[in-house]
Amino acid sequence: MSARILDGKAIAASLRARLAERVAALGYRPGLRVVRVGDDPASGVYVRNKDRAAQEAGFDSATLHLPADATQAALLATIARLNADPAVDGILVQLPLPPQISTEAAIAAVDPVKDVDGFHPLNAGRLAAGQPGLVPCTPRGVMHILAEAGVALRGARAVVLGRSQIVGRPMAQLLLGADCTVTIAHSRTRDIAAECRRADVLVAAVGRAGMVRGDWIAPGAVVVDVGINRLPDGRLVGDVAFDEAAAVAGAITPVPGGVGPMTIACLLENTLEAALARRAT
Ligand code: GUN
Repeated sequence: MSARILDGKAIAASLRARLAERVAALGYRPGLRVVRVGDDPASGVYVRNKDRAAQEAGFDSATLHLPADATQAALLATIARLNADPAVDGILVQLPLPPQISTEAAIAAVDPVKDVDGFHPLNAGRLAAGQPGLVPCTPRGVMHILAEAGVALRGARAVVLGRSQIVGRPMAQLLLGADCTVTIAHSRTRDIAAECRRADVLVAAVGRAGMVRGDWIAPGAVVVDVGINRLPDGRLVGDVAFDEAAAVAGAITPVPGGVGPMTIACLLENTLEAALARRAT
């Protein structure tokens, strides 16, 4: 193995420590509310981890849990109450939602100034327009990792694998904003391996275990693996075949311990920014 391992866990810990210091100096506790609907077990783990990290960093954090058969009206009423609550700076509706609820309607109901997921169309539009706003946590975390690793982005060829609203699209916008030449490759891309091979920076966010093989990677490329896939034997693996990729890449994020911890740290960063912006007006 030749690639440098990019330790997202350590970068996230140091970011959380810096955020905790800034929160301690504020004189109030920024408020975060995570809304969970139903009993998806993976969501349960994510929500608990977010809540715990927020509390450890000094935020006023709580989870609101609605039953699996909650109506869309009930969820929208909950969101409206949080929008109106002056103690709440950040609102996160954990996805996926049960089928009777429109994800689009739930996202659009969150006040854009409290939208710490950065999923509201207003924030997505701001990002696409190159304007300041709240940015989705996972792509923001990837940018932190690239910055910490000293990756030169200006003029670099970046390939983003996946076009989701949560990761792929905002990731491409952030890399474009950092002066990369950006390609978004996806399930309909004609020769996906050839596109990946052109990348100086490859970000994989497709949710398919080990899809990116070693011979998809240019020697010395920086590989960021956003995938978190659970194998039948219980192991967590990324979208990149790690051992093969690490033999070719210049640097690579592991799974677990790469991008995952950054997502939560950036949620806290977004919540602090939302609190500062909202309370300044
Ligand atoms: N489900 C999986 N990832 C995310 C995320 O980043 N935010 C929310 N709200 N739900 C998710």
